[in-house]
Amino acid sequence: MHPFLENPRAVGTNRLAPRASFTPYPSAEAALSAGPSERVIDLSGAWRFRLVPTVLEAPDALFGPEQSDAGWESLDVPSCWQMHGYGKPAYTNINYPFPVDPPRVPTDNPTGCYRRTVALPDAWAGQSVVLRFEGVDSAFTLFVNGTEIGNGKGSRVPTEFDVTAYVQSGENLIGVRVHQWSDGSYVEDQDMWWLSGIFREVSLIARPRTHLRDVFVRADYDHETGSGRLKIDADVVGGTFRAWLLHGTETVWEGADQATIANVLPWSAEVPNLYTLLLVIGEEEAVALRVGFRSVRIVGDQILVNGKKVMFRGVNRHEHHPDLGRTVPPETALEDVLLMKRHNVNAVRTSHYPPHPRFLDLCDEYGLYVIDECDIETHGFEAADWRGNPSDEPLWEEAYLDRMKRMVERDKNHACVVMWSLGNEAGRGRNHATMAEWTRTRDDRPIHYEGDHETRVADVFSRMYSSPADCDGIGSRTIWQEGDPQMIAARNAKPFLLCEYAHAMGNGPGGLKEYWEVFERHQRMHGGFVWEWIDHGIRQHTSEGVEFFAYGGDFGEAVHDANFVIDGLVFPNRTPSPGLLELKKVYEPVRVSIDLDGIKFQNKNLFSDLSSLSGRWRLLRDGREVESGTLIVPRDGGQMPLPTQVPQESGEWVLEVSLGLAEATPWAKAGHEVAWGQGVIANRPAPATHPSGSLRIEGTSLVGGDFRLEFSRTHGELVGWHANGTELIVAGPRLDIWRAPTDNDRVGWISVLKDWEKWGLDKAIYRLDDFKIDISEGEAVVIVAARLAPPVHRWGLTHRLRWTVRGDGSVRLEVEGELQDELPSTLPRLGLEMRMPGAIERATWYGLGPGEAYVDTREAARLGVWDRTVDELHTPYVYPQENGNRHQVRWLDLRTASGHGLRVQGDPLFDFSASRYTAADLQRARHTSELVPRDFVTLRLDHRHQGIGSASCGPGCDPAYELRPGPFRFSFEMSPIG
Ligand code: GAL
Ligand code: MG
Repeated sequence: MHPFLENPRAVGTNRLAPRASFTPYPSAEAALSAGPSERVIDLSGAWRFRLVPTVLEAPDALFGPEQSDAGWESLDVPSCWQMHGYGKPAYTNINYPFPVDPPRVPTDNPTGCYRRTVALPDAWAGQSVVLRFEGVDSAFTLFVNGTEIGNGKGSRVPTEFDVTAYVQSGENLIGVRVHQWSDGSYVEDQDMWWLSGIFREVSLIARPRTHLRDVFVRADYDHETGSGRLKIDADVVGGTFRAWLLHGTETVWEGADQATIANVLPWSAEVPNLYTLLLVIGEEEAVALRVGFRSVRIVGDQILVNGKKVMFRGVNRHEHHPDLGRTVPPETALEDVLLMKRHNVNAVRTSHYPPHPRFLDLCDEYGLYVIDECDIETHGFEAADWRGNPSDEPLWEEAYLDRMKRMVERDKNHACVVMWSLGNEAGRGRNHATMAEWTRTRDDRPIHYEGDHETRVADVFSRMYSSPADCDGIGSRTIWQEGDPQMIAARNAKPFLLCEYAHAMGNGPGGLKEYWEVFERHQRMHGGFVWEWIDHGIRQHTSEGVEFFAYGGDFGEAVHDANFVIDGLVFPNRTPSPGLLELKKVYEPVRVSIDLDGIKFQNKNLFSDLSSLSGRWRLLRDGREVESGTLIVPRDGGQMPLPTQVPQESGEWVLEVSLGLAEATPWAKAGHEVAWGQGVIANRPAPATHPSGSLRIEGTSLVGGDFRLEFSRTHGELVGWHANGTELIVAGPRLDIWRAPTDNDRVGWISVLKDWEKWGLDKAIYRLDDFKIDISEGEAVVIVAARLAPPVHRWGLTHRLRWTVRGDGSVRLEVEGELQDELPSTLPRLGLEMRMPGAIERATWYGLGPGEAYVDTREAARLGVWDRTVDELHTPYVYPQENGNRHQVRWLDLRTASGHGLRVQGDPLFDFSASRYTAADLQRARHTSELVPRDFVTLRLDHRHQGIGSASCGPGCDPAYELRPGPFRFSFEMSPIG
């Protein structure tokens, strides 16, 4: 057994006690400038590096000055070595990629040897020197000038060493030995890539004789009086301190220890007012902290922020970068925060470890509530019924406590942190109680731990992936009422939240609206956190140079969980997926509803009226704007009359109201849309007319002035449609029920795919039963009777296509059918599929858009006339699957570059997708780079689609959105254009 790497009690040696994150400066001016400090040397940059396969191959001597590192390679700090060609990333969700035999780890334990030199500035003479590591995965030993200083564990919490006695003026050699595996790996089993190395910054810090060892600033807000209570608990070494509270440049208060400050501007995610607390320590050091006055209290079954019940419109955020792994540069962290704010997100759970500290700075500054989660997960023990789970082993008590202390101490001064979480998926055990107990002695923020199903230690009741129906039962306390009555009573009295819901894997999540209807129905509900923010794809290129994103298994891992790590609201390159756009709509802080009575504004903000928003309205006739104007949004919400007369002319009349930022904010430009609503205020369809024309039958073709439709006698199908010299359709339409499975269809709790495959829905075989062609009074009628049925089974779809072809070249297609025998419980979709020539380039449609939408993911789509190229209709899910559907479409034009093409009209509504890939192509491909565009366009005109749901980890689609087999009837009008 290795005395350090395989001993949970060995949490680290010679470390300094944990403290709050702050930067010491030599003067008050420097501290207030918040620029780089001359007391800190950032050791980011190229280090000498060498990776050896086992611990024994990295003896202490390698880190001393006697040894040359001339033959070593170079690696940037911070970074994850697997992202730079040393070893390979590996992904598992629950399982450990090594044998479960705690605290032992594999002999083949890749060990990174790091060295660099640093010269101490003369100005540092006489000061203490501290080496600080923000994050090293998973365990390391520090050497300075050849002397072993100490070691540390706990990948995502900081470690500091006092190296004063070992440094010299001039050059110093710093050596760090980092091991991929340690006992710590057993408690760091989060669902993410296994990556190693010094992945967050390392710095050298000078501390004068009199300095601030630590400080705890409590800035409470009294919502009744509007005053702030400031309490400064400073641990000053060798002297005293003096404090100034500044708002901007104005001094609000000056003193030490504590004060009550009248009329403070409180902090909230909505209005993140921050003050600066300047601490001058003795004569030699100054520190500036940002302080937000706010209160977090649990009162009854509610969580109150500044006295008001808070709703978490949250997301779970892992730290991931497609090229750098868990090393997330500052600009990327900022990008996350800006994207969140712009998409109406107000809360983040830092799943499942404390983030880089600057992320919390950004949350303070831009306004996001944070559940700060401890770096503990032991999910792999589930495979053995949690036997030997560290969470309940005294051997691991110290490790658990150490991680909790290092998180709480580091992050305690952040206004954004409104809850502490003990970790994730680590079963239950005595060590959780110890963590919670210590935390309560230190701070009064509520404690969260989802694994504590009985809320024995947690202050809030939290679950993941409960269905809306279960949430309703939790809200009304009508489910899970069995068990120890005292426990039930205590749990019933607590606030509830979903720390994870709406698994955003691939296409989806569906059903967000239904969750929010339940969240808003019950007093104890506080919203939830979508799983998860980002797809953890790793950017790769094929040998031809085509970019794609890799996931589990792509690096040859022996055990892995494939694309289960691709389950975010943004793609790996942080482009928003349709799921994030949908979330933005559901998370709107203002609900706008429109009907003939007027426009209603429901303000869901707790601390702001609607005066920061400016309104615009547009009147659409059949999807096109005919009138528009601005409107004064009532400050306090409520109702206002329609800004325009209800039109009497024909057409579908939609009034749209959009609320945008009246002025720029730090996170978005003026005009940025925050909320919108549409309402149909009149609908008077104009009757269709058809000019006459002549047509004749030639064999199985129908021929008119400038068109020809050719049917196949053997299959009864259209095999060609030419009009005005353009080819419109090359094959089909055929009745079609298959879609390339989405992740939500395929994996997870209830794979509908298994059911669909069992019933042979993917293998349906077509049979022609009857084909008739007839002409009378300038109209031709083609009737095709057919059956679609899988091999093996008795069930099938008997159906008829009735074509009416008019002399003007327009076509009406009516489809009806029924299903026989014992039936599958749902169908993927029901509609027509056909092939159009590859020259078709654009789609213009009137319906919901512009983005992808399905029956349970249509909140973000709005009525209008939209225009996209066929390529733009495709959503590039990292793992290819069904995508790109457009919903509730009234009409659709598909055109070539020269403007020739086909118009389709619904009766009244249909879904469509037009793609250069077939369903089979999408189903076969495992990466975007494997998709090769076809030389035809697959057009699907769908009557209905099965909803999307979030069954990849959670409930399937709501029964209301299932596509249950039954008799059907739908029709389309089609005509050539151009
Ligand atoms: C949860 C877990 C997350 C993630 C998710 C599935 O159970 O807490 O870390 O694994 O499932 O994507
Ligand atoms: Mg897990």
